Amino acid sequence: MYILTYRVCFGGIRLKILSAKDYSEMSSIAAEIIANIVKEKPDAVLGLATGNTPIGMYKKLIEMYKAGEVDFSKVKTVNLDEYVGLGADDQNSYRAYMNKNLFSGINIDINNTNVPNGLAADIEAECKRYEDVIKRLGSQDIQVLGIGVNGHIGFNEPSITFNKGTHVVELTDSTIGVNSKIFKNLAAGAKAITMGIKNIMNAKQILLIADGDSKKDILRKALYGEITPNVPASVLQLHPNVTVVEACGLGIK
Ligand code: GLP
Repeated sequence: MYILTYRVCFGGIRLKILSAKDYSEMSSIAAEIIANIVKEKPDAVLGLATGNTPIGMYKKLIEMYKAGEVDFSKVKTVNLDEYVGLGADDQNSYRAYMNKNLFSGINIDINNTNVPNGLAADIEAECKRYEDVIKRLGSQDIQVLGIGVNGHIGFNEPSITFNKGTHVVELTDSTIGVNSKIFKNLAAGAKAITMGIKNIMNAKQILLIADGDSKKDILRKALYGEITPNVPASVLQLHPNVTVVEACGLGIK
């Protein structure tokens, strides 16, 4: 059983916070939210995220698909980000992650899935191409987000502005430190292409998932603290339709 809290923000915006008892419950609730969108709108545009946090949610979606509960044949997806220098053949790329953890387990048309191309020769041109892909798809019906320990969403690191579309980012030392566990060659994880906060905020609905003690403080700061690009996830206090599903213990006072 989860605990439901509403955080009433400036202007009367209400963030819905579902505090799950553990990772498994968080994953089930999040998968259910996505599956319901696809049931209502079979050609929904799903904005997807990577990282450890969504793996359980993707597993549950695969189970639901296999049980005949949800059909992904018309769904389109657009991912948040990708490392510069990594392609589908590299198991550390986000394209490989998506293929492995979700796309290969459901009946999605792989041509309807979008991840920035980390191997593009001209990275600036790739940002422009990806921005066009996002525009052509229209608003994401739902955008899934994880949160970095420094408050980043996608790879939007702490900065001085929320006002960006798809762009190249130099990752902060803290992010490189966390991600270095997966990279033998550190330089491979130093730069990324990411959707900007502007693209994220354009989604009709946002689903932020967070798990574990290490995320509790930053999640509290993002949801209850000052709205500042220095804590990128705090921008969600300005979005009219956000659901947070967390298993960080935030709901246990
Ligand atoms: C990466 C991704 C983010 C993700 C974050 C947290 O930096 N670019 O989209 O939210 O990691 O990952 P994890 O879920 O593994 O903690």
